[in-house]
Amino acid sequence: MSSKFDATPSPAAARRNSTARSQALFERALDVMPGGSTRATIFFHPHPPYAAHGQGSRIVDVDGNAILDFTNNFFSAIHGHANPATVAAVAETAARGISFGLPTEIEVDLAEHICARSPVFETIRFSNSGSEAVVSAIKAARAFTGRPAIAKIEGAYHGNYDHVEVSLDSAPANWGEAAPAGIKYARGTPDAVLGDTVVIPFNDPEAAIRLLEAHGSRLSSLLFDPLPSRVGLVPASPEFVTAIRETTRRLGIVLIVDEIVCFRLSHAGAHPLFDLEPDLVTLGKVIGGGLPIGAVTGRRDIMAMFDARPGKPAVPHGGTFTANPVTMAAGLASLRQLDHAAYDHLNGLGERLRQGLTTAFAQAGIPAQVTGMGSLFRVHPHARAVSDYRSGFPTADEKALQGRLHTWLVEQGYLLTPNQSGALSTPMTAADIDGLVDVMVEGFGWAARERAAA
Ligand SMILES: Cc1ncc(COP(=O)(O)O)c(C=O)c1O
Repeated sequence: MSSKFDATPSPAAARRNSTARSQALFERALDVMPGGSTRATIFFHPHPPYAAHGQGSRIVDVDGNAILDFTNNFFSAIHGHANPATVAAVAETAARGISFGLPTEIEVDLAEHICARSPVFETIRFSNSGSEAVVSAIKAARAFTGRPAIAKIEGAYHGNYDHVEVSLDSAPANWGEAAPAGIKYARGTPDAVLGDTVVIPFNDPEAAIRLLEAHGSRLSSLLFDPLPSRVGLVPASPEFVTAIRETTRRLGIVLIVDEIVCFRLSHAGAHPLFDLEPDLVTLGKVIGGGLPIGAVTGRRDIMAMFDARPGKPAVPHGGTFTANPVTMAAGLASLRQLDHAAYDHLNGLGERLRQGLTTAFAQAGIPAQVTGMGSLFRVHPHARAVSDYRSGFPTADEKALQGRLHTWLVEQGYLLTPNQSGALSTPMTAADIDGLVDVMVEGFGWAARERAAA
């Protein structure tokens, strides 16, 4: 018997028969949650479809529509949905007790597994989210250096801590000229946060050196993602990597490499691909097998800031659910399947997608481009060269086009983020990739016709 999962989304088919049940759920949610949503990052207008269940690369929504999932819960579900080995590990572990106020063996197993993947990962500390891991890394750097401030890259996303949100959505009207201006993200962010956050433009070695030197005596850390999604998902240049590594080392600034997303690029994560020697690395997403997780790992002497054996640690860090055995089991089951063959499969599909889109855009005369690496991609609705946050920043017209395109893709059964970025999962096939190329090209054509008709 065929199931909804067998359906390969086709641009020709009218895929969405109904959205009535999702709409009804959203109306209920509006009564009990601000804006009807719990995650700002997954909301889009008029409301997202509500997921009923998922298997592999597909989700089925509550109205029975099949969705080919290129978000994989924001790049975390690297084996797609309901991965059998992960589900079995979760069930077996939960049956023995879901969480304890005591450590468990599987926490040591997962720590050993991750630390064995890179010599940089000397010791590790788990948390419940990537955001929390970033906060822990910053606190460890502050304690280690005795300095209060941090530096971050303009436009880069690192979770929801006040300091790391600075300049996340700066725009031409306020982003400053000589040096990026510190712009608050959430209304009500204290002014002191801006005083303790230095913003550095991506891929500009001279500016990075200048700003790090100007603020060096106050800087505890530089927070750096070498493939920052919101900056355009373009890789850091070798010159930029060399500049920030040499300068942070010379000035005694802890280099925190945020691999919460880009750890999925290779067995040892992203830093070896960029020839980058981090002091600390933050992890999350794929290391939890689909359950909430974060981790900070790296140099033993800095990680010692968390050591509770002398009495009060330099950085006290706990968490009721931290390193709970169910999350640890899911993470271990998921990572054990991520062998070199799995990375080759994922990265090969990523290459196929980027090449396919580049060729198709050129053949169809569409002014668009695709960036990314490995199993990560982002489509930009313009042909300007993207090297940093400012060059990738969409115009108002391009933003509107992104919105129309997102609506089109969801209607055709393809889920990407609203700015057309995505991540591949191991159950995906070449046919899935080719389907996205086709539907993306059709979507650009449709969006252009819609605009002309408006
Ligand atoms: C690079 C990066 N850092 C940190 C985070 C925060 O992780 P979490 O959502 O688990 O708090 C994210 C989340 O998308 C991220 O992309």
